[in-house]
Amino acid sequence: MMQLHRANNVADLRRIASRRLPRPIFDYIDGGADDEVSLRRNVDAFARYDLIPDVLNDVSAIRTETRIFGQASRWPLMLSPTGLTRMFHGHAELAVARAAAKHGLIYSLSTMGTTRLEDLAQAFAGPKVFQIYIFKDRGLTAEFVARCKDAGFDGLALTVDTPVAGNRERDRVSGFSLPPKLTLTSLLSFARHPAWSLPALTGAKFSLANVSHKVDLLASGPMSLFDYIGAQFDRSVSWRDVEWLASQWNGPLAIKGVMTPEDARRSVASGATGVMVSNHGGRQLDGAPAPIDQIEAVRAAVGDAPDVICDGGIRRGSDVVKALALGATACSIGRPYLYGLAAGGEAGVDRVLSMLGDEFQRTLALAGVNDVAALSRRHVRKSEGWR
Ligand code: FNR
Repeated sequence: MMQLHRANNVADLRRIASRRLPRPIFDYIDGGADDEVSLRRNVDAFARYDLIPDVLNDVSAIRTETRIFGQASRWPLMLSPTGLTRMFHGHAELAVARAAAKHGLIYSLSTMGTTRLEDLAQAFAGPKVFQIYIFKDRGLTAEFVARCKDAGFDGLALTVDTPVAGNRERDRVSGFSLPPKLTLTSLLSFARHPAWSLPALTGAKFSLANVSHKVDLLASGPMSLFDYIGAQFDRSVSWRDVEWLASQWNGPLAIKGVMTPEDARRSVASGATGVMVSNHGGRQLDGAPAPIDQIEAVRAAVGDAPDVICDGGIRRGSDVVKALALGATACSIGRPYLYGLAAGGEAGVDRVLSMLGDEFQRTLALAGVNDVAALSRRHVRKSEGWR
């Protein structure tokens, strides 16, 4: 099996993760909705942009610092919120947050995370964002806002692309659920990975820590927690709820899942300070465009001030350079750090952030750009006749 230190890129870490994790768990991370068209498109779309280099432009020192959610970031990357993280590695969210802090990057904690937001904030001084939903019970959302203020979170990301659950067919085939469904295939796969499987099969460690006070765990078990949350998703959420949330929070707020210039403008008009252009990593609406293809129009619609974050499909540091040249403030990653986490815990996340950071620096040098703020539209071109 390939070792962590031999990994050269995100694709290598994905391979290590696929061998380390039981199949249903790997597929839960790796998969997308329906035919996985958007999942593939998110990644492939980056290859359709050429980078146009400047030359003879002193690149002996390159400035990469930027601000996202009002916080300093060593370079324009952040870590997207992902649920159920403890399933992928026992050190879960804390391992990811620590690696992010080491790299001077912003970490986001999911509502569906497996570490209490208060515990994360206590263990981790770095910049952090909480990913929130507007639940049927607005009181539950208001409670999260108050907890995030008390715990010292720097920003909120409101996820709006999940009015209903996406159709993840890999999960159905593999038997991924809480607790895992025991088909012959999933049993064989879990038997081969005892370290992951014991807690997975008993459901012992997988409470959704931030909402577990809402149900009696002993009486109902993690499955009904999942049900409880599922029942809280509200199809009637609208722009008025964004205004309400912005007034409750009164701080940096990004709407995550915005795909069009019109909705980006509306987000800002409703009180958001930014948008995460995202199709949830191809896990919700299959057929949605790749985030990178929407960046230029979204930036044009909202002007210079709001954060425009390109979320999804980033697998190379050069992808971040392309997104910035098209107008993004920064990019955000989900699967890349989860592959790292599964491959080697905190060291695996550290590895993936180092690799992407090195690629980013090298790309800027090769493109003749010595300050991220100087990246502009002329550094990128949509390729003609791309095969
Ligand atoms: C996610 N994503 C996500 N988003 C969110 O708002 N709340 C959540 O709980 C989760 N959970 C989650 C779990 C897993 C396993 C994955 C892979 C993704 C979506 C995530 O924040 C981000 O939008 C995508 O992962 C970005 O695409 P890439 O970087 O994975 O290509």
